[in-house]
Amino acid sequence: KKWYAVIGNPIAQSMSPTMHDAWFRENGIDATYIPIHVDAERLGEAVASLKRLGCSGWNVTVPHKSAIIPYLDEVDEVARRMNAVNTVKVLEDGSLFGTNTDGQGFVRSLQEIGAAPNEVEELLVIGAGGAAAGISYALEAARFGRISITNRTLEKAEQMAEAFPGSHALSLKEAQMAIDKFDLIVQTTSVGMNFAQSGMPLDPTGISEGAVIADIIYNPLETEFLRRAQEAGGKTMNGVGMFVHQGALAFELWTGVYPDTKKMIQSITTELG
Ligand code: ATR
Repeated sequence: KKWYAVIGNPIAQSMSPTMHDAWFRENGIDATYIPIHVDAERLGEAVASLKRLGCSGWNVTVPHKSAIIPYLDEVDEVARRMNAVNTVKVLEDGSLFGTNTDGQGFVRSLQEIGAAPNEVEELLVIGAGGAAAGISYALEAARFGRISITNRTLEKAEQMAEAFPGSHALSLKEAQMAIDKFDLIVQTTSVGMNFAQSGMPLDPTGISEGAVIADIIYNPLETEFLRRAQEAGGKTMNGVGMFVHQGALAFELWTGVYPDTKKMIQSITTELG
């Protein structure tokens, strides 16, 4: 029997084990998926143990996404540019291959709600961290419009813009003033999770009617940012789709099967609702 895992700290809250186990069942694959708590200082030992114990592949979450790279034999371009790995596959010769499915997962979830690249001319990414880089990379590859990047720390937005030819950085104030010109806005900061304490980086009031507004947060299902965007006439998308599709892409890499994402999005939405 094959087995897969997710390593992180904290890990108890992860919904990945339930999701992947359901997909293994649905597809008649004799495998299981377990969560493993790994402290930062024991990452090397953990990787060695996973190999020794015959794990076929694993997901990597906070705080190990960058730290795991030196322990892998091969890392693809996506993961290298993001400096972050979320999926590892153990190849036939026992070597470890790392990639990152977060950005592409986001693009798949956008496509699933019917957003098409040719409908997006101007797009705004809020945030300049790891999640923003992965999503920008995937949006660029899928040719979703011209990318503007805005961030609390403008310098980081500028650094990110340099890595994406054709993109440019805006201050939060500039982005706020031009909010009505964007066809797609992606909120990638962690602010949505504790809105009460931190406040929104940008107010979506004033967006253009019918613009697509996405937040990568999925718990809560509706952040204050999305609630206001909806009120303002936006077509909103929360982070459940991205979470499910990043998992589906990992599942496909491991098994060759792209699992049923629609049903999974529904069941996770019900569970969190
Ligand atoms: P992730 O991998 O989830 O993207 P990260 O790399 O730590 O995490 O990036 C966090 C992002 O959220 C950054 O863009 C950060 O802005 P700064 O570069 O200014 O730190 C943004 N962020 C976090 N807390 C924020 C807050 N309270 N207000 C605005 N932006 C915030």
